[in-house]
Amino acid sequence: MEQTLRDGLNDQILSIEVSLIRKFDEQTSDVPDILKLTLGEPDFNTPEHIKQAAIKGIEENFTHYTANAGMPDLLKGVAAFMKTKYHLNYNPADEILTTVGAEEGVAASILTALNPGDKVIVPSPIYTAYVPLIRLARAVPITVDTSDTGMVLTPERLEKAIEENGGDIKAIVLNYPSNPTGVTYLKEELAALAEVIKKHHILAICDEIYSELTYGDEPHHSMAEFAKENTIVINGLSKSHAMTGWRVGFILASADIIKEIRKTHMYLVSSTSSISQKAALEAVTAGIDDALEMRKEYQKRRDFLYEKLSALGFEIARPNGAFYIFAKIPAGQIQDSMQFCVDLAKKAHLSVIPGIAFGKEGEGYIRISYAAAMEKLEEAMRRMESYILGK
Ligand SMILES: Cc1ncc(COP(=O)(O)O)c(C=O)c1O
Repeated sequence: MEQTLRDGLNDQILSIEVSLIRKFDEQTSDVPDILKLTLGEPDFNTPEHIKQAAIKGIEENFTHYTANAGMPDLLKGVAAFMKTKYHLNYNPADEILTTVGAEEGVAASILTALNPGDKVIVPSPIYTAYVPLIRLARAVPITVDTSDTGMVLTPERLEKAIEENGGDIKAIVLNYPSNPTGVTYLKEELAALAEVIKKHHILAICDEIYSELTYGDEPHHSMAEFAKENTIVINGLSKSHAMTGWRVGFILASADIIKEIRKTHMYLVSSTSSISQKAALEAVTAGIDDALEMRKEYQKRRDFLYEKLSALGFEIARPNGAFYIFAKIPAGQIQDSMQFCVDLAKKAHLSVIPGIAFGKEGEGYIRISYAAAMEKLEEAMRRMESYILGK
């Protein structure tokens, strides 16, 4: 058969599958009256004062390119925000970069950090973006199962993975609080992981986009608190300030690393939207505690879901962050997560994401998003109950 132009495109891209979430959506899109708890974005609107700051920016014609790393006031605001919230000290002059959402922060970090063949540890189940991006960089993802260690990577497991690869590990990608599991690391767990990371000179690419949404006794801790030199911190405003559509993220790292990521960022996107940066400045200054109200509401929803699902026989590991519950399908039910979710959608008109979408280690689980109003969650649990109990 004749080679088409498409066949000659980047072989890594050609081999990357589109997300299983889309496949699942296709199989269930014709179900009437479906209730969806699938979305990974806040159901709240962006706070009014943030919207007003952006409107003012437009009216004042702040509509031109900004500095490539972001406008200086915003970088200062981010530095102050990160210091107040997480005790991190980064110099706004050369250690912070504004990106197009956390997603660009992840992509630019991965593309800058990795050479072809580099091995990268990815604890799994994991957010869907990392493995394709690592492949795009022609590096090699090494997935490490966390499903039998409470959905956290233990220092022992990390040491074992490093040893199995003859010490040849370049980087690790961590996401906490986690999408899809909702689990986050406690301070001492992070500190212990940091020791291993430092010992083996590993670069830690840490996606902390859900840092403002934690529900345990302790607030979020960043890996940079324990291994600053080794860490690239990625954060942003999508989840904390219900700003998914504005596309604002941040990267924080040592100046020599930021200098290089900045080149990737420059040739990918030039800079983040000027108007969004005005909104972001308002968010990290006047809106420093905007997440607190939303967090209270998420916590109520989490408590409700946790109780209901546990009573129905779902096992759930420590769901103390983000807005997801990752629940093990009870024994006696369909164990294939895709089949379970398709059946649940067809019979009970309830849509949740199959765990397999987050790596093979997520098989046997479902991800439920509680970025949805309480009444919706109550109705969802009625539907789940009648499905599980066979009513
Ligand atoms: C773990 C994780 N990282 C990054 C992102 C993307 O964030 P942003 O919208 O800021 O690009 C998401 C969005 O769902 C996420 O769950």
